[in-house]
Amino acid sequence: MFKIAVIPGDGIGTEVTSQAIRILKKASRILNEQFEFVELKAGGIAVDTFSKPLPDETLKAALSSDAVLLGAVGGPKWDSLPYELKPEQALLGLRKSLELYANIRPVIMFDALTESSSLKVDVVRGIDIVVVRELTGGIYFGKPAGIRHLADGTRRGVNTMTYTEPEIERIAHTAFKLAKTRKKSSRSPAERDGAKGAHEIPSKGSFGFAGKVTSVDKANILHTSMLWREVVNEVHKSHYNDIQLDHMYVDNAAMQLVRNPKQFDVILTENMFGDILSDEASMLTGSIGMLPSASLGEKHALYEPVHGSAPDIAGKGLANPIASILSAAMLLEYSIKQKELAKKIFRAVKCVLNEGYRTSDIAYDGCTAVPTEKMGQLIEQAFTM
Ligand code: IPM
Ligand code: MG
Repeated sequence: MFKIAVIPGDGIGTEVTSQAIRILKKASRILNEQFEFVELKAGGIAVDTFSKPLPDETLKAALSSDAVLLGAVGGPKWDSLPYELKPEQALLGLRKSLELYANIRPVIMFDALTESSSLKVDVVRGIDIVVVRELTGGIYFGKPAGIRHLADGTRRGVNTMTYTEPEIERIAHTAFKLAKTRKKSSRSPAERDGAKGAHEIPSKGSFGFAGKVTSVDKANILHTSMLWREVVNEVHKSHYNDIQLDHMYVDNAAMQLVRNPKQFDVILTENMFGDILSDEASMLTGSIGMLPSASLGEKHALYEPVHGSAPDIAGKGLANPIASILSAAMLLEYSIKQKELAKKIFRAVKCVLNEGYRTSDIAYDGCTAVPTEKMGQLIEQAFTM
């Protein structure tokens, strides 16, 4: 029995999560193993029901589950609430309490979607990048933080970016181990779309082909980044000499991602840079609706699409469930150790896209536009052993 805490959240979170559950239920039948789904509230819906974005019951259930599957939180309805009540606090609270310091965001271009990207086909064909984002430190959590009144009556907003050596060390290990499992130069398109060495995080050792880590910082300006660069270099030198390590300033990285994204393999970066760069990277693949993520710690794991709650399209059947479905695949791989099954889901998505089915975010002329639920059903049908 495997216990999955399900937190659909707000907006399209609920719609996409039900499609991911459809796939997990099929996986449970295939594996002949029971999954217990415990549905919980967090985000705006929890503010409406319990007057807090992350109710104790939700946190408790998340802490005692084997994995958490999350949809998305937030929406204009709750935007003007005080800081502690904002739906986004649910996410930050979960990340911090579950100590989910490693956020893994694979950015993969499906061949069928090259036309959906806003960049030229040649630039994006075959993209296979993973963003490794530090998730429990940096400016998101640093103290002091807040808005204070100054003596002259004006206000001053403060956030603090901090990183300790151990925080940098552990995320650097995550990125290097991940790079080890990737055999970039030799990967065939089928492996690229299906096998996804990227999903195999704690490394069992190199496959014999060096991967590459690009550590992104702002070490020409920020002290946290100077320390970041030093520690990443130390971890590299002492453990991962077979992996290529490059450093890049974040402004340049943002530019290189659209200039020549295929130069990247594993991008290692701190919390806020990772937030921004992963949204940018998502557009390479055609839509942010395609990007899954895993947030991993030593004891817990949470899986969620990178996209937000998209209140403008919520409830209309327009949402793309693929990011959530691929997040479920990551859950199967990392938390249930069913890598083969995860690959099968990946291939099912690929197959449905190759057949020309699209949700509206990735649709163009000549494709069959389908609503959220239909996309989920098609992927479920294509997902066979
Ligand atoms: C993300 C989101 C969150 C973040 C928000 C919703 C708090 O943008 O997961 O990328 O900034 O981390
Ligand atoms: Mg973000």
